[in-house]
Amino acid sequence: MREKFVAGNWKMHGSLAENKLLLDGVVAGLAAVRGVKAAVCVPYPYLFQAQHSLQGTSIGWGAQNLSEHVKGAYTGEVSAGMLKDFGCRYVIVGHSERRALYGETDEVVAHKYKWAHAAGLVPILCVGESLAERESGVTEQVVARQLDAVVHAVGMAGLKGAVIAYEPVWAIGTGKTATPEQAQAVHAFIRSRLRVVDTALAEETVIQYGGSVKAANAAELFGMPDIDGGLIGGASLHADDFVAICRAAQAS
Ligand code: PGA
Repeated sequence: MREKFVAGNWKMHGSLAENKLLLDGVVAGLAAVRGVKAAVCVPYPYLFQAQHSLQGTSIGWGAQNLSEHVKGAYTGEVSAGMLKDFGCRYVIVGHSERRALYGETDEVVAHKYKWAHAAGLVPILCVGESLAERESGVTEQVVARQLDAVVHAVGMAGLKGAVIAYEPVWAIGTGKTATPEQAQAVHAFIRSRLRVVDTALAEETVIQYGGSVKAANAAELFGMPDIDGGLIGGASLHADDFVAICRAAQAS
């Protein structure tokens, strides 16, 4: 049985003062919630704060990106080892904003994934199609290509323990959620690709949905058989909303 997993992606939001309120609210709100994994992925400068607030709780923390290199002369970059130093369990890899705004190709994403995995971090690998791709009927090809790039770099065994987040680009931050059926269809497709090579891996891999998940639509999405939780942007910035989404995951 896969445990539901809800992760917050704060993106470039927050301040020490705001984060304190948010983290305290999440810790208090989730204290009584069992049977759901929860984590927050915060901007790099706040990793220490997240570690300080969350260690000793059941809530994990992580980063939103990492370097595709292990170390060296890469000004401004942050390595997988550095994330481990701050107690990170998770790191988001290949978010569509990184792909679209920072030119991360499938190959770069695969390198990042490889170092995250090698360092013992749990990569949250984001895949998903743009609106134009959906409308031209190539959603499955796009998702398959994004997955294959990573499998090419780390092998099928390298997917073990990872989290895949299906995030249709057209649903991110737009208020436009994929319907539970639309999301389920792609989740089932992803799981079927894994099943072809490894049935056990397919059954145990957590596949999150991301894209305008809110307290009001979470239960419906998480109720689908292949949707194992969510990667939450906007709604993860409000403790009450994030906790409500985790509760929806617990109930489904
Ligand atoms: P959203 O973002 O929930 O604000 O749509 C999701 C994400 O980008 O991970």
